[in-house]
Amino acid sequence: MTNETNYDTVFGKMAIDQGLCSDDELRQALEELESRSKLNPAILKDLMIELGYITASQAERLKTGIKESKAAAHQIPGYKIIGKLGAGAMAVVYKAKQLSLNRPVAIKILPKRFSENPEYVERFYKEGQAAGKLNHPNIVQAIDVGEAGGYHYFVMEYVEGKTISDDLVAGKVFAEAEALDIIIQVANALAHAHACSLIHRDVKPKNVMINTAGVVKLADMGLARATADIKAAQTEAGKAYGTPYYIAPEQIRGKIDIDGRADIYGLGATLYHMLAGRVPFMAEDSADVMRKHLKEKLIPPDHINTSLSAGVSEVIEIMMAKRKEGRYNNIEELLTDLDALREGRPPLQAHKRFDVSMLEQLEEGDAIEVEEKIYKEETVAQYRMAILILSTLLVVFFVVLLILLFK
Ligand SMILES: Nc1ncnc2c1ncn2[C@@H]1O[C@H](COP(=O)(O)OP(=O)(O)OP(=O)(O)O)[C@@H](O)[C@H]1O
Ligand SMILES: [Mg+2]
Repeated sequence: MTNETNYDTVFGKMAIDQGLCSDDELRQALEELESRSKLNPAILKDLMIELGYITASQAERLKTGIKESKAAAHQIPGYKIIGKLGAGAMAVVYKAKQLSLNRPVAIKILPKRFSENPEYVERFYKEGQAAGKLNHPNIVQAIDVGEAGGYHYFVMEYVEGKTISDDLVAGKVFAEAEALDIIIQVANALAHAHACSLIHRDVKPKNVMINTAGVVKLADMGLARATADIKAAQTEAGKAYGTPYYIAPEQIRGKIDIDGRADIYGLGATLYHMLAGRVPFMAEDSADVMRKHLKEKLIPPDHINTSLSAGVSEVIEIMMAKRKEGRYNNIEELLTDLDALREGRPPLQAHKRFDVSMLEQLEEGDAIEVEEKIYKEETVAQYRMAILILSTLLVVFFVVLLILLFK
C-alpha cells in the first residue's frame, strides 16, 4: 500500500488487535484509501469511520492508545527515542539511543493487554533473561526488558538493514546458494539458542534480518508469544497481519511440549518461501492456512520452481514433516545436510529420515498414496521375480540344448 502512512499502519493493526474490525474490513478500507489517494486523499481513521467499520468514539480511544504507547516509549529511563522502525501484528518498534553507552538500539513496545496477563508478564521476563544470556553473531542481542507507563518493552540490538520478508514482498525468489547461506546462519543461531534451552517459536521471514554488512540476524529471540501457541494462532487467525504461514502443526494444536523441532519447521517454511517464491500453504483466511499445515500434503518446492535441486527440496520436506518425529532430530543434524547441500553433496540425513517421514504420512492420512507406492513397489518386485525365473529357465534350456547337441 503505497499511500498507507506509518500512522495508518499502526492504526489498522491496533484496530484489528483490539477486535474493532475484521481482517476483510481493514483490507477493504486500505483499498479504498489507495483508490482515493489522488483525487480525495484521506486518512485510514476517518475512512474507517465513514465506511462504518468503527465508531468515532472507538477511533478516538485507539488514537489515545497509540499516543499513550508512544508516550510510554518516551518515558523509558536511559533511552532517547529517535523514530519509528516499524510495526508488526502486535507491537511497535522504535529506534532509540541508549544514553549510557551512546549507541543506537531498537525498542519494542508490547500492547497494553499483555501487561494485564500476569502469566505472560512472568514469561516475558523469564525468556528475556534467558535471551540476555545468549551471545551469538547471528542473534539480535537482547539488551533490556522493563515496564514504563503500563507498557512492557524489550530493548535489543539495532540492526541496520532489512528483513527477508522485505525481499519476498518485493517479489524476490532467492537463488539456492544465497538462500542456503542465509538459512545456515539462522540455523547456527538456533543451534546456539537450543543449546541454551531456548526455543524461538516464531521463525519466519519477518524475523530474519540482514544487516548492511550481509550478516544474518535472527530477531525476537526470547520474545514470548502468548502462553499457549494455540491462543496465539487463534488470535492471529483474525488478523490482516501475521497470518500463520510458518507455524508448526504442533503449535497450532496447542501442544505444550514444544521443542526445537518447531523451529526446524518454521525455518523450513521460510526456506520454502525463499526458493519457491510462495508460502507453503496458501488460503484466503488464516484458519484455512492452519488447517493446511495440519492436513494438506506439501507440494515439493522443486515442483514449483523446477530449477531447484532435488536435494534441497528433500531437505525442506523433512524440515516440514507434519509430525515432529519425521523431521530432523535437532539443528545439528539439519546443519550436516545444509552444509552438504552447500558443497554440492547429497543430504544423507534426509535420506535416512525418509522412511520415518513415510510412516508419519501414513498416520497423517496419506495412507492411499503410501499404499499406492507400496503396491507399485510390490508390482515391480513381482515383475523382477518373473524375469528372474524366465531367464533362469532360459539358461537351463540353453545348457540342456548344448549338452544334447554335443552329446
Ligand atoms: N532489532 C531491530 N533493529 C531494527 N529494526 C527492527 C528490529 N526489530 C524489528 N525491527 C523492525 O520493526 C518491524 C516490526 O517488528 P515486529 O517484530 O514488531 O513485527 P514483525 O516481526 O515484522 O511481524 P509480526 O508482528 O507479524 O511478528 C520489523 O519488520 C523490522 O522492520
Ligand atoms: Mg519480529
